[in-house]
This record gives sequence, structure tokens and C-alpha cells, in this order.
Amino acid sequence: MSDVDIVPIKAEIAAHALISREKYDLMAAQAVAEPEAFWAKEAKRIDWIKAPTKIKNTSFHGDVSIKWFEDGTLNAAANCLDRHLAERGDQVAIIWEGDDPGMSTKVTYRELHEKVCRLANALTAQGVKKGDVVTVYLPMVVEAAVALLACARIGAVHSVVFGGFSPDSLANRIQDCNSVALITADEGRRGGRKVALKTNADEALKTCPSVKTVIVAQLTGGKVDMQHGRDVWYHEVTEAASPKHTPVEMNAEDPLFILYTSGSTGKPKGVLHTTGGYMVWASFTHQYVFDYHPGEIYWCTADVGWVTGHTYIVYGPLANGATTLMFEGVPNYPTTSRFWEVVDKHKVNIFYTAPTAIRSLMRDGEEPVKKTSRKSLRILGSVGEPINPEAWHWYDRVVGEHRCPIVDTWWQTETGGILISPLPGATALKPGSATLPLPGVRPVLVDGEGKELHGETEGNLCIADSWPGQMRTVYGDHARFVQTYFSTFKGLYFTGDGARRDADGYYWITGRVDDVINVSGHRMGTAEVESALVAHEAVAEAAVVGFPHDIKGQGIYAYVTLVADVEPTEALRKELITWVRKEIGPIAAPDVIQWAPGLPKTRSGKIMRRILRKIAANETDSLGDTSTLADPGVVTDLVSNRAG
Ligand code: PRX
Repeated sequence: MSDVDIVPIKAEIAAHALISREKYDLMAAQAVAEPEAFWAKEAKRIDWIKAPTKIKNTSFHGDVSIKWFEDGTLNAAANCLDRHLAERGDQVAIIWEGDDPGMSTKVTYRELHEKVCRLANALTAQGVKKGDVVTVYLPMVVEAAVALLACARIGAVHSVVFGGFSPDSLANRIQDCNSVALITADEGRRGGRKVALKTNADEALKTCPSVKTVIVAQLTGGKVDMQHGRDVWYHEVTEAASPKHTPVEMNAEDPLFILYTSGSTGKPKGVLHTTGGYMVWASFTHQYVFDYHPGEIYWCTADVGWVTGHTYIVYGPLANGATTLMFEGVPNYPTTSRFWEVVDKHKVNIFYTAPTAIRSLMRDGEEPVKKTSRKSLRILGSVGEPINPEAWHWYDRVVGEHRCPIVDTWWQTETGGILISPLPGATALKPGSATLPLPGVRPVLVDGEGKELHGETEGNLCIADSWPGQMRTVYGDHARFVQTYFSTFKGLYFTGDGARRDADGYYWITGRVDDVINVSGHRMGTAEVESALVAHEAVAEAAVVGFPHDIKGQGIYAYVTLVADVEPTEALRKELITWVRKEIGPIAAPDVIQWAPGLPKTRSGKIMRRILRKIAANETDSLGDTSTLADPGVVTDLVSNRAG
């Protein structure tokens, strides 16, 4: 990868872009020199009930406390809806494109406002109050956006659980935050198949006594069991509710949502975002990174179950009065032209997807793309994992026909929104680089001891100061928040990623440096997969690592030690894969299982994952020092019996 591979800013984009390089430089300088003044001004993009006078009150030291706009009050849903009604009530807010190409609908801001008010009233009627947690387990339907906004409107905290998660994973995420209500659907649709959401929910709720109400959207009409006194139909309760609702006044630092994400240890953490700073960050980044101009059609292909769906399908675009497209389906159904057909059908201007989707479409060649027009496209985006230059160039040449800048956006569930990304009119691109920090973001690279590295270098990626969209705590466990993000390198937010900085100050994310794997842009903790495996009666011990995978970026490689007297058979291998799918969800299913009579451990019993990663990546000639192992013979056996 050479630094001379520079793609200049496109003149036709620069001519109309919101931010030029000069403006970016000025903003970036001011945001660092005078953060209070800079963010006081940017906060005006949000409608406050009471405007904030205290702007920034943050510390990454000691107990870590992050507050932005702390004396301001607002309502997030009112910012996404009510304030647009006068000017753009009849503009389309959401274009919904179904899994079935024959199905799509358009919802105007006025219609969306009414739907949200009705559900807000229905939730209130069910006894849900400000501060209560509501879990949302829905597919990519308009009701999902409505659910988020209805919660925000009444001051309830939403916790969305991705529809691909198992009943067990759903139950864990409900129990952790004691949610009082669940919003789900009879069934979801994806790629021509049905997903039994209500059946999964029923299974999960057997161990979730905190949930008093289940609101069920009827999407397919599939048969479901409704539990009397607990379950109600979405259409019935919303039809019965008033279409008028006064949004609840929330403090800037009141929680807006919890979103569970995997870490290197233990169970998933409830990442908590609050209202004011998150909304400012969502609006600011959506407008500038995508160079969003009023009237444009914007499509982010993420699922609303992930943070990308929260910030860049719902809150960012709607705060900015955009038209946002929600897609229920998958890139290859009914054919691999689907993305581009949807682009043409709805004249999409801005398209934001993940490298894994690009790589999987690349396999089918250029024809499925070229048979579509795509001439509405102006900006392309990438998120979730490093984009390899080969995929970048394909996206640029075949999809964008060299017309569209690609914004490679680096961020995390924890960061609330994009932190490092090109701006279309301001940043010359380098394929594979997320380029430069947004104004107000201060990345630093440190060595293993926490010493800051300057200039052209490579190290652990940390952020030196707070930005408004930052997570505030781990729900119910502030000590874990401090421990996970602020204890490795004192006084810095540690991202868990490694990065290189080149001579132009551009950042190149190299991937996770902890025990988190990034499978198709989805985060998976190795510890979670390991505990699912050892929960099977045949498994004595398991160690899970990531390995390079052509389509998924990283695949899941599991080393499994069986209990005595159990024979390693092909049937058992399949059973274990199915087991993990059922325990966590399909995204956690191991790609490879290698039987391991022993695992490489130090004398103190610690598994040496470095060695396991090398074997999984088939880099067995560079295993490094194995002399500290309790039994070096274990490695020889694993190398000679390498799977896959
Ligand atoms: O490793 C980085 C990778 O995804 C991780 C965050 O995952 P998650 O919280 O699920 O959020 C995904 C969507 C924002 C990061 O720690 N990552 C995300 N975007 C990029 C990336 N790696 C490289 N380049 C990116 N553009």
C-alpha cells in the first residue's frame, strides 16, 4: 500500500460542498483551541427547550465524568419531527423498501410524526414512563424507527437488540437493564426467508419477569401466541391512541438509549448514550461527512439493531430533515443487482454501506452493477471495518464510476457517531485510509506503555479529549466503563483499535488490538463465543480467535478441547456450530473448528492467543517465542492438525 495513491478532491463536488479544506482547517483549529465556543455554536443545530449555557464539563481522569450541554433541555424526537413540520411536513422522511422488491412505501414527516405520537401515547397507556427501559426487537421496518422515536418522545430509554440475536442473547440484554416493555413483531423477512421474532421473544421472556408489556407489530400475519395480559397488537394500541402528543422535556444528560456491544471480556456491555451531546453529534456528522444537501435521498444499508442504524438511519438524517431510506432486505436477494436497483428506483444520492457487502458483491463481477444506471449517486460511504484497497477501487470504479468520493468512516458504538473520516469537499482520499479526524476529535497514537508517539508512526489509537457524542457510561456499571476505556492508558479514551499515521497526518486503522473480532463489520467478543462453546456438554475448553476471511474481513476460528471419552466427529463439529448459532445468533457461528487435545498455555495457565492467531492465519513459520509455554508440544500438534 503506497501513500502516493492519492485521489484528489473532485472539482464538481468541491464546487457545492458544505466544507472546503480551508473551512475544515479553521473548524478543526477552533474546535481544539476553543471547544466551548465551537460547540456552543454547533449546539444551535438542535432545537433546545432551554438552551444550554454550560457547554463542556468532561474529565478522562479518576472516576471519569462526561457532561455536555448539561443545563440544556430538549426532546430528541421533537428534533427529528416536530421542528420540521412547518417547512417540510409533506416531504418524505422515510422511504421503506421491502425485502420483496414489489413492496415499498413512503412516509412523510407529518405521517411519521403522527405514527410516533400514537405509539408514544400507547406506550404511556401501557404504563411506560420517563426513565423506563424499552427493548426493541424488530426487523428493518418503519415501526422500528417509530419505536425509537416514540421512546425518545416520552423519555423512555430504548435498547435495540438486533433481530438476528437468539432468545438467550435477547434475554440477557433484557435482564441487564430490567426493561419493562418489549416492542417486537410476529415475524421478520430477510432474503426471502422469515425470522420468528415473536417465538424467539416468547422463549426469551420466560426468564425476564421485568417485562410487563409486549407490543407486537403484525408484519407477515404469521401465527403467533399472544399472552393475555402481557401481549398487545401494535396496530390495535396505536389505532386506539391519540395522534397528538407533547414531547417530554429531557435534560441533555438524560439517557437516550442503551446499545449492547461486545468487548474483549465478559458479557456484552450496555453502552449508554445521552440526549443532547448525541443529537448534536449525530446531526453535525451526518450533515458534514455526507455533505448532505436538503432534498437529497440518503441510504444507509445498516440494520437499526447496530449503532450505525441508530445514528445514520434514524437520528442524524431525521434531525437534519433528510429523506432516509430503510431497506428490509439483503444485497443479494432476489439478485446481486438489488442494491443498485434500489438506488435507481429511489434516485439515491448518498449511499453508505460496509466493506463486507462490497466484497461479497465483487465476487459476482461487474455485470450486475453495470446493468443499472446509478447516475443519481453523488457520495459513497464505508463503515464497520477496514476497507481493503481492492474493494475501495472496485467501489470507486464500478459503483461510483469515479464520480463519487468515498467517505471511509471510522467510529464505534461507544463514539456515538463518526470520528475519523474524509469530508467530500475537503479531503483528498487515500484508498484504505479513514483520513483525518473530524473537528473536535483529537486522536493520539501511543505505544504499549502509553507514551505518545508523534509524526509518522503506528500504535494504539486513543482519543485525548471528549466529543459531544461520546458514551457516558456502561449501563449499571460505571467501574467497568472506567476500567475498559480509561485504565489502559491513563487520561486517554482507548478505542481498542490500532492505527498508523502517515506523513500527511492521515490515519489508517489496522484493526482491533484486543480480543474482539470484526466479522462482516459486526463486533464479536471471543470470550462470548468461548463461553457458548463450553456450555455444550461435550466441550471441556475452547479458545476463539479471528482469522483473515476474504468476504467477512475476519472469520471465527475456534480451538475446542473435548471432555474425556468424547470422539471428535464431523457430526459433533456441525452440532457445535449449530449450538453457537442458537446460543448467540448466526453471526457468532464459528467458520472453523479445530479439535485441540491441548491449548498453548503459559505456566500460570494463560492461553497464548498470539500463537493461536498465527496458526489460524496459517502463519505457522512465524510463531515467535514458545519457550514460556508449559507444554510446547501442544503447538506442534495444533500446527500439524490445522483445520480449514
Ligand atoms: O475496529 C473498528 C471497526 O469497528 C469497530 C467498532 O465496531 P462497532 O462498535 O460495532 O461499530 C461499527 C460501526 C461504527 C472499531 O473499533 N471499524 C469501524 N469503522 C471502521 C472500522 N475499522 C476500520 N475502518 C473503519 N472505517
